Amino acid sequence: MNNWQALRDHHRMVDNRPIFTLFDDDRAKAFSARADGLLFDYSKTNICETGLSLLLKLVETSDLDAKRAAMFSGARINETENRAVLHTALRNMNDQVLVDNEDVTPALREVYGRMKSFTEDVRSGRFQGAGGQITDVVNIGIGGSDLGPAMACIALSPYAEKLRCHFVSNVDGAHIADVLAGLDPKSTLVIVASKTFTTIETMTNAETAKAWMAKEVAEPATQFAAVSTSLEKTAAFGIDAERVFGFEDWVGGRYSLWGPIGLSIMLAIGADDFDQFLAGAAAMDAHFRNAKPEENLPILLALVGIWHNQICDYATRAVLPYEQRLARLPAYLQQLEMESNGKRVSMDGADLTIPSGPVVWGEPGTNGQHAFYQLIHQGTRIVPCEFLVGREGHEPELAHQHLLLVANCLAQSEALMRGRSLAETTAIMKKKGLEGAELDRQARHRVFPGNRPSTTLCYPKLTPFVLGQIVALYEHRVFVEGVILGINSYDQWGVELGKELALALQPILEGASPDDKDGSTRQLVEYLR
Ligand code: F6P
Repeated sequence: MNNWQALRDHHRMVDNRPIFTLFDDDRAKAFSARADGLLFDYSKTNICETGLSLLLKLVETSDLDAKRAAMFSGARINETENRAVLHTALRNMNDQVLVDNEDVTPALREVYGRMKSFTEDVRSGRFQGAGGQITDVVNIGIGGSDLGPAMACIALSPYAEKLRCHFVSNVDGAHIADVLAGLDPKSTLVIVASKTFTTIETMTNAETAKAWMAKEVAEPATQFAAVSTSLEKTAAFGIDAERVFGFEDWVGGRYSLWGPIGLSIMLAIGADDFDQFLAGAAAMDAHFRNAKPEENLPILLALVGIWHNQICDYATRAVLPYEQRLARLPAYLQQLEMESNGKRVSMDGADLTIPSGPVVWGEPGTNGQHAFYQLIHQGTRIVPCEFLVGREGHEPELAHQHLLLVANCLAQSEALMRGRSLAETTAIMKKKGLEGAELDRQARHRVFPGNRPSTTLCYPKLTPFVLGQIVALYEHRVFVEGVILGINSYDQWGVELGKELALALQPILEGASPDDKDGSTRQLVEYLR
């Protein structure tokens, strides 16, 4: 019997048991793991010793050790694009990494050094705009060239000083119009962030920003910087090579915030704190490479994910940070997880026989509690929840609010697991004076079925180091899930068809014949043009 079947059989046997009955004195400790100050608790799931050992067998048979070693070594594991996958090299620049027999780290260190000096120049005022000191930075990029830096700049805002960073991604002109409306071109630096430097949204917004800058700045390109793998294209756009920070195609877009794509983060928080961000990720890399599977956070997150998605058939996963500054983490993880593991064929092109990655969504607590938690607690679908919470906030004067935040986070996972039975609800309603048929009816609405799984990731405080650990943890989780599912987590062919059709629709919206389009598209064109 294969491991998947054994897991499914096991699931059928244990599906309805109440999670809270699994708790003995050891469970919390046994079903949690720690790494450099982080605690991952997955004891409030229906995974027991048997389930865990079956899940760990998936790891054994997936050849994870060899595949992880191949990734870190620079092998071309992104087979459909024939590329290495080496975002880890960006945070381990002192360890030699060979791609095609050439050590790539000297070039990484060179570009990183230039990023640091540029950051220092901008922050100190040595680099001047037409109006003197730069006060604002606008990062123009989309997907991986936006979500990571935007997420990290909000997350690390307590460490940001001197510069305000803004992000423009959408081709909707409203986005750039609203961002630029509050800014002075003479004191603004624009970063055009695009791995390919061809993405239509980014290039269109970059031209708009250039025209905006040109109204007040005689040589607008002097207040532009670029990050890309294509140095010819950045030159053609008119950006001086000294403000161009290149990287190689073995850094995937959604894995790129550690290098030049993270320039806006470095400008916001400074080079020393950016070093800390990299150090946190490097610490997670070391943990991922060295810890035993049963103590290995990325592996455990992946196995809990696989248990819920592929075995229990829960199609979505909610990411619920009790940390307002992680407001963009769910959006960031949507790209990281869904663009990586939302695939329908395995590495060799055969159809997948198991579901691929889940739909990832979420919002920070406590806000979500007053919006969609109703469905999480009482809806007919089960949504596994991933809570994140820090021991300490950045506002010591508001420690009482942080305590309330933490209490809410813990209350939610407890409520999801325990629920409230009809008997308990009836007793409560009875005390309030209800009786008879009305008591029965009202009580049923107030029942919480419980037995809904969740995990909690705790960290000391959202510092640059901790953010680095958390992001790298999720990256490696995606890798492990991909390896176990047998898919290529590093390509994204699913985004291409829409791009092609959008190009073809532009002339049609301008008046060309829509005749080869379906009836619905023709009707929409007719309405919209
Ligand atoms: O369309 C998807 C995608 O290719 C993402 O993978 C990527 O992060 C984003 O577009 C932006 O690409 P680029 O950095 O090349 O502009």
